[in-house]
Amino acid sequence: MKKRRNFLFVAFYSILLLGISGCSDKGNRNPNTFEILTPKPSPVPRINGAKIFGVRPGSPFIFTIPATGSKPINYEVLNIPAGLSCDPKTGQITGVIEEPGEYLTTFRVTNKLGSAQREFKIVCGDKLALTPHMGWNSWYVWENHVTDKIMRDAADAMVSSGMIDHGYMYVNIDDCWAIKPGSTDSTLLGEPRDIRGMVNSNKRFPDMKGLTDYIHSKGLKAGIYTSPGPFTCAGHIGAYGKEEQDIARFAEWGYDFLKYDWCSYGKIGRKDTLPDLQKPYILISNIIRNQKRDIVLNLCQYGMGDVWKWGKEVGGQSWRTAGDLGGSFEGIATALFRDGFDVYSRNSLHLYAGPGGWNDPDYLLIGYLSNWKGETVPTPLTPNEQYTQVSLWSLVAAPLIFSGDITRMDDFTLSLLTNDEIIEVDQDPMGKPGYRVTKSGDTEVWIRHLEDGSCAVGLFNRGENSLNVTARWSDLGLAGKQRVRDLWRQKNLGRFNDEFSVKVPQHGVVMVRIWPH
Ligand code: GAL
Repeated sequence: MKKRRNFLFVAFYSILLLGISGCSDKGNRNPNTFEILTPKPSPVPRINGAKIFGVRPGSPFIFTIPATGSKPINYEVLNIPAGLSCDPKTGQITGVIEEPGEYLTTFRVTNKLGSAQREFKIVCGDKLALTPHMGWNSWYVWENHVTDKIMRDAADAMVSSGMIDHGYMYVNIDDCWAIKPGSTDSTLLGEPRDIRGMVNSNKRFPDMKGLTDYIHSKGLKAGIYTSPGPFTCAGHIGAYGKEEQDIARFAEWGYDFLKYDWCSYGKIGRKDTLPDLQKPYILISNIIRNQKRDIVLNLCQYGMGDVWKWGKEVGGQSWRTAGDLGGSFEGIATALFRDGFDVYSRNSLHLYAGPGGWNDPDYLLIGYLSNWKGETVPTPLTPNEQYTQVSLWSLVAAPLIFSGDITRMDDFTLSLLTNDEIIEVDQDPMGKPGYRVTKSGDTEVWIRHLEDGSCAVGLFNRGENSLNVTARWSDLGLAGKQRVRDLWRQKNLGRFNDEFSVKVPQHGVVMVRIWPH
């Protein structure tokens, strides 16, 4: 199993860096020298993030209008559906829509410098996650040290850093909130369930309802984690045999997102056939569907049985496409530099995802991460590799879930997470994931078609030296004169005939958007 997991995370990471070989711009570890490309948000109002949002009739609605611009901002929703209201001071939209249907609203934000408005579609039906999830997850930075305070601090930081103004929404606890039988740490010990059979949290989480209320009060959503097996991967109590009670508990606590991680289920269930692999996920999604709140379901079973082909069918809104990006820094490094395990392109994963169900290639490994020895240290990814990860994630319509220390972000990390033109690619309402169009030597060109008829194109360099990378119109399915804009720098580059060619630094990327002239 361990061997398979190792293989899977190596396999997985190759979609990230497209098989970079050799070492990288590794001399560059001084954050002061990292080149920030994202322009600072303008003080003039701008509306960011998703343009479409799904909710079920009767479920509590929480969505905060993501807008940048100097504060205070006044927030309005024109044509707001019956049952919802918008707090003009915070932009938090809350309430309940009872009538299914498509509601075309307009967000308007105003400050002393002006105002901006944009259409926003609310689809009240049975589909959630109409665009990839955006948020934060505790795993890669806090792993088994996560606490209530860490989660509250994360919610605070999502607001104070401004991430919420760019569309980030979920604050998700990963493993280690439940009781861990046999632990040597007394804070993790206790009765796993109460007399009703409802799961208990451990002493590090003394008040789960208080925690989700806190997260919701910030206009954010809360996520939790468990396993279909008797234990989670870190040995805490899982949901096996108590699925009804656990989902009812998560709903009563007020959770909006569940990561359901295979872990010890392998010892209980079989995994020889597709029905074996699907069984725990069908069971849980049916229970989730009966709750009176929307809980987004993230399947975490490392890509087994080509989960991308059926993740949506069994009720998932996203599915991990392979193993962990890294259980250790060595793991990440090894994976980064391996060629030939190209999960995404080899399996044409772009064909399977779309509104309501997304390929999840794991979290954004930037900023400060755990070194698995009780310390947090800077990501082992070089600046160019970090640009490559975020660009690729938005090209393939992956969830943008940051898993570094959100309370300790330098300007560079924040700039990677909050480039609105890159986020707009990730959150494109058409929801068609991108794919690789050409691979030649150390260079690759990826394309994603966008709703307005334009396309986003990533020009990647896997090599050790800067290289010229060319995107040819004939390869991209384009013809004639095209207008090209650099998305990281948010600058128009001009009009080009036949091709766009640019120098790309080692392990780096230039990401552009192309419109017909
Ligand atoms: C792994 C999972 C990680 C993390 C970890 C927690 O199986 O892939 O993302 O959740 O378990 O123990």
